Amino acid sequence: MKFILTLAPLFLSSLAASKSFLYAANQQTLVNGDFSVPGENPLNFCNDPDSYSLTIDNVDLEPNPPEKGKELLIKARGNFTEKVEQDAYINLSVKYGLITLIHTKADLCEQMKQVDEECPLNGAKVFTKSVTLPKEIPPGAYSVLADVYTKNDRQITCLEAKVRF
Ligand SMILES: *[C@@H]1O[C@H](CO)[C@@H](O)[C@H](O)[C@H]1NC(C)=O
Ligand SMILES: *[C@@H]1O[C@H](CO)[C@@H](O)[C@H](O)[C@H]1NC(C)=O
Repeated sequence: MKFILTLAPLFLSSLAASKSFLYAANQQTLVNGDFSVPGENPLNFCNDPDSYSLTIDNVDLEPNPPEKGKELLIKARGNFTEKVEQDAYINLSVKYGLITLIHTKADLCEQMKQVDEECPLNGAKVFTKSVTLPKEIPPGAYSVLADVYTKNDRQITCLEAKVRF
């Protein structure tokens, strides 16, 4: 289930970039999910995952929660129950406290190339990936919201994570 992997570099690079977090604050509230993602992870689905076309079986992070300056191992397993084609996208936002560091729309298929995966995405996927978290991550509470859609706005998944460094 490689799109988590896709999100990881986005998340991590945003953390790396957070030294320059002198951006306009905004008060936009994140969705607070009560639907936790199976496995050892800080993730929640934004709402009932039964409506998503991607079934996530599990996501395991080692260590969980992630620690700065350390290697983070991500293992994930899922099933794209409907084919995902070109122009699928991720609406991603990353906040540091109440400050929005990132609010962007990214091309899902383009991101997949980073992990040697190509659209169309279909069926069961498994992946393992390790990334190194920068030591310089400023201490504080981070939240990430990744809302993923097909070109026709069919929701593939939506994930939220809160991590304190
Ligand atoms: C993935 O989803 C498809 C469509 O719902 C289903 O037919 C298939 O059995 C699922 N595969 C796994 C490994 O769960
Ligand atoms: C995704 O973000 C774009 C740009 O901010 C916005 O126009 C669009 O409505 C968002 N899509 C969804 C389904 O929220």
